[in-house]
Parts: sequence; structure tokens; C-alpha cells
Amino acid sequence: MEPRKKGLILQLLGLVLLELLCLCLGETYHFKWNITKTSYTRLNSTKKILTVNGQFPGPALHVRKGDRVFINVANYGTYNITLHWHGVKQLRNPWSDGPEYITQCPVQAGANFTYEINFITEEGTLWYHAHSDWSRATVHGAIFIYPKLGASYPFPKPYSEVPIILGNWYKGDVMEIIETALEGGGEPNKSDAHTINGQPGALYSSSKAGMFKMEMQKGKTYLLRIINAGMNEEMFFSIANHSLKVVGSDGGYLKPIKTAYIMITPGQTMDCLLKADQTLSHYYMAAKAYSSADGVAYNNSTTTAIIKYKGSYTPPSSPFFPTLPDYNDTDAATNYTSLLRSLASKDHPVDVPKSFDIRVYTTISVNILPCANNSCDGPGGSRFSTSLNNISFRNPSIDILQAYYKRIKGVYKTNFPDDPPYYFNFTADELPSNLSTPKVGTKVKVVDFNSTVEVVFQGTNLNSGENHPMHLHGFSFYWVGWGFGNFNKTTDPKGYNLVDPPEINTVGVPKNGWAAIRFRANNPEAPLEFVGTVREQVMARGQLSTVQGDSMLPAIKEVVELDDLQLAEGGPHLEGNRQLDLGRFFRVLNKETNAIRFVSFSDEARVSGSGGDLDGDGITVIH
Ligand SMILES: *[C@@H]1O[C@H](CO)[C@@H](O)[C@H](O)[C@H]1NC(C)=O
Ligand SMILES: *[C@@H]1O[C@H](CO)[C@@H](O)[C@H](O)[C@H]1NC(C)=O
Ligand SMILES: *[C@@H]1O[C@H](CO)[C@@H](O)[C@H](O)[C@H]1NC(C)=O
Ligand SMILES: *[C@@H]1O[C@H](CO)[C@@H](O)[C@H](O)[C@H]1NC(C)=O
Ligand SMILES: *[C@@H]1O[C@H](CO)[C@@H](O)[C@H](O)[C@H]1NC(C)=O
Ligand SMILES: *[C@@H]1O[C@H](CO)[C@@H](O)[C@H](O)[C@H]1NC(C)=O
Ligand SMILES: *[C@@H]1O[C@H](CO)[C@@H](O)[C@H](O)[C@H]1NC(C)=O
Ligand SMILES: *[C@@H]1O[C@H](CO)[C@@H](O)[C@H](O)[C@H]1NC(C)=O
Ligand SMILES: *[C@@H]1O[C@H](CO)[C@@H](O)[C@H](O)[C@H]1NC(C)=O
Ligand SMILES: *[C@@H]1O[C@H](CO)[C@@H](O)[C@H](O)[C@H]1NC(C)=O
Ligand SMILES: *[C@@H]1O[C@H](CO)[C@@H](O)[C@H](O)[C@H]1NC(C)=O
Ligand SMILES: *[C@@H]1O[C@H](CO)[C@@H](O)[C@H](O)[C@H]1NC(C)=O
Repeated sequence: MEPRKKGLILQLLGLVLLELLCLCLGETYHFKWNITKTSYTRLNSTKKILTVNGQFPGPALHVRKGDRVFINVANYGTYNITLHWHGVKQLRNPWSDGPEYITQCPVQAGANFTYEINFITEEGTLWYHAHSDWSRATVHGAIFIYPKLGASYPFPKPYSEVPIILGNWYKGDVMEIIETALEGGGEPNKSDAHTINGQPGALYSSSKAGMFKMEMQKGKTYLLRIINAGMNEEMFFSIANHSLKVVGSDGGYLKPIKTAYIMITPGQTMDCLLKADQTLSHYYMAAKAYSSADGVAYNNSTTTAIIKYKGSYTPPSSPFFPTLPDYNDTDAATNYTSLLRSLASKDHPVDVPKSFDIRVYTTISVNILPCANNSCDGPGGSRFSTSLNNISFRNPSIDILQAYYKRIKGVYKTNFPDDPPYYFNFTADELPSNLSTPKVGTKVKVVDFNSTVEVVFQGTNLNSGENHPMHLHGFSFYWVGWGFGNFNKTTDPKGYNLVDPPEINTVGVPKNGWAAIRFRANNPEAPLEFVGTVREQVMARGQLSTVQGDSMLPAIKEVVELDDLQLAEGGPHLEGNRQLDLGRFFRVLNKETNAIRFVSFSDEARVSGSGGDLDGDGITVIH
């Protein structure tokens, strides 16, 4: 590699300078988490589930923006596991992001792994979950990210903050359920209950006593940090006699929305203010599925929890129950989500790309693959296999990030298409069955560092259209537009919101419709992975794309002062005979300008002996 190019690569480091400085201001925490099997009883039956430190849901993390957390995860279970920090961008730290076979190989039974989680730009609510098959059904928890010390919320400080985690309970072993589905190619078993904070609630006779109860003091305002940690289903959520004021989602702030209910897709978070402004009593909060796919089985039960006012009064024998939209009320779902707007204030500005360098228009389909002797459990003995642009993702033998980093050939191809391979009326009522069979492969889309990207997801009606939650690892994005039917690239962009679109990490692509997102590709090592969470995720994850710059720098391991990097004519140079460690991050003070820069050394730039001059382009290293 010629020096000039290296200079350019190192220039990219300027980007992280500010963020690192902010990082240094925060606290550093160390935790030890044991993944253990622990007995839990729900729905009148007992089973062992995988937990974090024996807790279900797992312990919440409480941090401030700018903090850094190290968690040593020891796997005392019998399955491979990884933990994913859902919505944390992990800027330049992708090895700790967690997606199995994407950024790391799983932590095997008996082994341990230390994750480093950097909260740099996020503020609000995110969550973590296991990212290996279905272990996330029980291994998950909330992440509270408070404003930096001295900063405040863009709303009056709530009296108290409460996590509301929507999840599922399966009587069977979740790993067995997913294994059966993966082997057979059919749908996984439905859950036996939806849960709020791990409890099915009052509509199940055996669960009434354990139901989650939240006490409220009249006149106070509470912040509910609502997370959909469910396996498959979008959820409607509402509280009897109280309205919600939604102020944030996915680790960012929103313009306040006053609403009687919310719709939240798996993976999303919603921060809602709840004012205790009603008569002293007990009231139900409840959640049930929004299930958009026609004729597809879903869990039609309702989970509940109670809010109870403090004070002396006789509680009602049957508290008021909220009204929730019908399970198939797509209008109610989209009416709510279309209200989401970024706060777009001075302290929380919007930085949506006004134009784009790259647009990827991709279909999302539930496809089927034929099986020998029609022996699978999907339609007509076939196997479900979902796709993006008609390519179903095949798990690689080694993780993609490692293959990229070590330049191992043959693991993936870089020809993920920018457009659907063929056009048809994607949302037509009847589609010929020959459109159903996808190609299978491991394809990525590589984009240049700092380019602006627009992705338009187009739902199709193959094997029944439905809402598809799409999540991006390592990035948040601006959700600039959506509509029903087929995306029209001439007319639809005219309706985009480029003023205050919500900045989120998971978008529900409406049933038989499309959603457009924009972001800047400024997290070079982070694989850009779109993960659909509905039916498809079990059967085959959607196709994966990767955004990477043409540079691949090691993740920041630690910051050290390089005191013998001194100013010389034209810039500092390395003195002495030093071996620079790969992956180390060095702090360089330019004594002329007093500017501090952080530099790191890539594979090619490994230095030994004397060498290294800072020229106008950055540091060039002789080796
Ligand atoms: C990325 O592009 C933006 C807009 O062109 C520019 O302001 C910024 O400096 C670029 N960042 C880097 C690290 O090159
Ligand atoms: C994790 O397991 C180790 C070994 O059994 C034990 O010493 C430690 O106390 C456990 N930590 C927690 C947080 O449970
Ligand atoms: C567990 O992970 C190891 C290495 O990452 C892999 O070889 C093995 O096949 C995995 N086991 C299962 C059951 O997935
Ligand atoms: C973590 O694994 C290493 C070996 O990889 C081992 O030396 C260490 O004792 C383990 N720590 C814990 C807490 O299990
Ligand atoms: C899945 O559901 C089927 C049919 O209800 C049942 O026979 C089977 O035991 C379930 N599997 C698991 C692992 O719970
Ligand atoms: C719970 O199970 C026990 C025995 O397994 C049974 O006697 C009891 O009626 C069940 N209770 C409920 C609420 O289903
Ligand atoms: C709650 O709302 C219902 C109707 O939605 C109303 O009948 C009832 O009086 C309200 N309860 C209280 C305590 O305000
Ligand atoms: C849920 O579905 C079952 C059949 O699977 C049906 O018996 C039951 O009545 C339904 N419950 C509701 C509340 O719709
Ligand atoms: C929802 O399903 C019910 C039957 O359960 C049906 O009558 C109704 O038309 C459906 N609504 C929509 C909007 O599809
Ligand atoms: C959705 O919004 C439209 C337009 O405001 C309204 O007519 C319709 O009643 C709403 N539907 C639901 C279910 O809220
Ligand atoms: C596509 O199919 C939908 C649903 O049948 C129909 O409403 C629409 O008119 C069709 N669009 C075109 C361009 O044919
Ligand atoms: C997009 O809309 C324009 C203007 O209505 C129309 O001329 C064009 O045919 C549409 N394109 C597609 C692919 O439907």
C-alpha cells in the first residue's frame, strides 16, 4: 500500500477524535455476567431457562451518555451464545457488537468473552439480548442511557423510571423449538403467552399473583422505557384511562406524541411519559399482537400488568381495561408510527443526508425452497427461506468481519444487487408461484466510507405480505418515507421528510408497502446487517449487506500516550526502536497547534524501527 493511501486512511481517525474525548469524560464500569440455566415457573409449569445471573428479564444497565462498560460474559449454559447491544453503534468497536457469525464466533459453553460497550451518541433506551438462535427469548434486558452529568432531558425530569419489557413465554424449550423449525423449514411454535417484565399477567389464572405491578403517586410523572423483546410479533400497548406521551425511541428523542396506544415492533424501544392524573385506583396496562400476515398463526392472547395509585381507597375487583386496536388493524399501526418525528432541537439536531450517493432498492420476501421428496414442514413440503432482492442469506463458515479483516477469500461475495433482479407488481393479491424460489448466498454491499446511503425496503406479497421490522447493526438511520404499494422512485421521494425524520435503528416496513431510510456510512468496520425479526428470522435471516470503507482499521483497544512521538519539521516522527501494537490507539499531541489526534495502525502500517513522519495528509509509516 502506498504511503499516500495510508495518510488518507489515518485521516479518517479525525472522525473519532471528538467522540473519544467525550468518551474519556464518562465513567467506566466493569461487570461480570454469568449465563446460567435457572428454574422459572410460568403458566403453571416449571422449566430451566437461560438467564443472565439467574435473572429473567436480565439485569438493566444504567449508564450515562459517554460511559463505557466492560462486561465479562461467562457461558455456564450448554449452548453457544453471544450478546448483542441492540442499537448501540459501537463506533469503531464492531468486534464487541455481538451478532453471531457476523462480528464474532459464538462464546462456547464453558468459555467467556469480555464485551466493551461504548455509549457515545445514544441517549434514551436501548436493550441487549443474546444473538444466537432463540436464546434471546430469555436472555435480554434494558439499557437506560441518561444524559451526561450536568445535561438534562428535553422534558421535565420524571419522578421515576420503569422498564416495561414486552416478551414471550414458551412452555417448550426455545432452543428445541427453533432447531425443529430450522431443521424442518416450517414455522416455529407460537409462544404460549406474551409477557410484561417476564409475567403473562391476569388473563392467565396461574399468573395473576406474579403479575407486574407498578405503584404511582398521584400528580407525579413516570417515564416508561418500553422495549419489545418479543420473538416475532409487533405489539399494541395501552394503559386504561391514561394517555401516553411518547418522547423517545431507539435511543433518541422525539417530538412529544400524545396517544392512547402505541405500536412497537420487535427490537424497538419507546420512551413514554405517564402522568398519574386519574382517580386513585388500579388500572390495567395491556399489550397484544399486531399480526398483519393473513392466515398466519399468531399468539392472540393479551398480557397485562397493573398500575396502582398509592393512597387509601378500595381497589376495584376488576380494574379498568384499556382498549387496544384489533390484531389486524394496519391503519391503527401505521397511523401511530407515521406520527414519529425527531425532536430536532439545538441540543438534539437532525443530520439527515439531503441527498444520497448510493441507493439500494430491495425487496423483502418470504420465499420457499424446495425440499427432496417434499419432506419439509413449510408449504407443500417446502422450506421457508426469506430474502432481500431474492437472495436468501447463507450463514458463512467464519464471521464476515473476520473474513473482511483478514482478507480471507471465498467467504462472501460483494455483488449484492442495488435493485430487484426482476420487477413485478410486488404487492399484487396473486403472485405466480415461480417467483417464490430465491437464490441462496452470502452477499454484501460494500460502500465507501462517509458516503450517504438510501435504502428502500419493498415488502412483497409472496406467501402473504406482512409488516417486516428491519434493524441495522452499527448504525441508526433516518426513516424518511413510507407508503403502501410499490415504491415509485420518481414520485415518492418528493414526499420524504427531510426536516425532522425519526432517527431509529429498527423500522417496521408496512405490510404490502415500502419504507425508505437514509444514513451516512461513518462506522467503517461495522457490518451493515439488516435483520428481519418476524417469521423469517427463524427460518433464514434476510440477506446481509456490509458497509465498509476501503480502510480496515483495528478496533480501539486502549488509548496510550506515545510520548516519544515528537514534533519534528513537518510534523511529529517516531523516535527510537519501537514496535507498535496492532489495535492500539495512540494519542498524539501536535505541539505547534496543540491539537490532539488519535492514531492507530493498520496491518500494513505496522512499524518497527524508526520511522513515521507526519506530513500534510496524516501519518505515514515506513516499514
Ligand atoms: C464526511 O462528509 C461530510 C460531508 O461531506 C464532511 O463534512 C465530513 O468532514 C466527512 N467526514 C470525514 C471523516 O471525512
Ligand atoms: C459467576 O460464577 C462464578 C463462578 O461460579 C462465581 O464465582 C461468581 O460469583 C458468579 N457471578 C455472579 C455475578 O453471579
Ligand atoms: C459453537 O461454536 C463453535 C465455534 O464457534 C462451532 O464450531 C460449533 O459448531 C458451534 N456449535 C453449535 C451447536 O452451533
Ligand atoms: C475466561 O477464559 C479464560 C481462558 O480463555 C480463562 O483463563 C479464565 O479463567 C476465564 N474466566 C472466567 C471468569 O471464566
Ligand atoms: C411444538 O408444538 C407441537 C404441537 O403443538 C408440540 O407437539 C411440540 O412438543 C412443540 N415443541 C416444543 C419444543 O415445545
Ligand atoms: C397447576 O397444575 C397443578 C398440577 O400440575 C393443578 O393441580 C392445578 O390445577 C394447576 N393450576 C392451574 C391454575 O392451572
Ligand atoms: C375509565 O374510563 C372508563 C371509560 O373509558 C370510564 O367509564 C371510567 O369511569 C374511567 N375510570 C376512572 C376511574 O376514571
Ligand atoms: C385465540 O385463538 C384460539 C384458537 O387458536 C381461539 O380458540 C381463541 O378464542 C382466540 N382468542 C381470542 C381472544 O381471540
Ligand atoms: C380483521 O379480521 C377480522 C376477522 O378476524 C375481519 O372481519 C376484518 O375484516 C379484518 N380487518 C382487516 C382490516 O383486515
Ligand atoms: C387512521 O387515521 C385516519 C386519518 O387520520 C383516520 O381516518 C382513521 O380513523 C385512523 N384509523 C385508526 C384505526 O386509528
Ligand atoms: C398491484 O396490485 C395491487 C393489489 O392487487 C393493485 O391494487 C395495484 O393496482 C397493482 N398495481 C399495478 C401497477 O398493477
Ligand atoms: C411513477 O410515477 C410516474 C408519475 O405518476 C409514472 O409516470 C411512472 O410510470 C411511475 N413509475 C412506476 C414504476 O410505476
